[in-house]
Amino acid sequence: MSNETNRNVAGRIIAVSMLLAIAYAVVRYHIAGGVPWKDFPFFILNKGLGLGAFVLLMLNFSLGPARNLGLPVSADWLNVRRALGMSGFLFVLVHAMMSFMLFSPAVFSKFFETDGTLTGVAGISMLAGVLGFVLLWGYNLSFQTHLREDKVFVGFITSRRFLIWALLLGGIHLFFMGYTGWLNPEDWHGGLPPISLVAFAFFLVGYLLNLFGRE
Ligand code: HEM
Repeated sequence: MSNETNRNVAGRIIAVSMLLAIAYAVVRYHIAGGVPWKDFPFFILNKGLGLGAFVLLMLNFSLGPARNLGLPVSADWLNVRRALGMSGFLFVLVHAMMSFMLFSPAVFSKFFETDGTLTGVAGISMLAGVLGFVLLWGYNLSFQTHLREDKVFVGFITSRRFLIWALLLGGIHLFFMGYTGWLNPEDWHGGLPPISLVAFAFFLVGYLLNLFGRE
């Protein structure tokens, strides 16, 4: 397939994933949940970006294992895995920077005790987010041409064990931030599951595909 076609396929997958994720955040939090629109440019957009980035990363990690398990994965999609992974990583970087700026008890009361310190559960979630981010960074580094010659580093970082752990950190980040809300469907805005739960569903599918389909 030509580079031109690759770009078209990658561009379309990235645009559709990001737009759907942001649209879900808008419908759930602004339209069904009544969050003021002034919060769209940062607080709500950050949720959409986090979800879209997560979907792109899951596609990057899981398309190969899915094909190994005999699922129908088109060659066009397999050829653009790197573009999906790199874009997912860059969107996670934006998500992390926005989250750092937003991180206060006024915005995320559920992550803080009344004395302003972090709860234990929020601590675990954020530690996993930060570690997950650093592992993704290492994974991206392994595609740099000057490091590709270091076979031990590349072998380790693209190994099944490393990738399974990197994925697991994403799952821990989501589980500990959201599980209390997941258990109360009667409180879900418009009956729509929280973004952390939607992302966790993608995580579960991706994790199982990698566990059983990665060689
Ligand atoms: C420095 C690293 C990170 C920090 C500080 C961070 C922080 C946060 C915070 C504060 C939230 C809650 C947002 C909200 O409810 O409005 C969140 C949600 C989320 N994060 Fe992260 N995160 C980091 C890394 C990651 C990584 C590496 C991934 C993906 C692999 C990720 C994916 C998500 C997703 C999918 C959500 C749920 C969507 C949402 O509710 O915003 N995050 N993160």
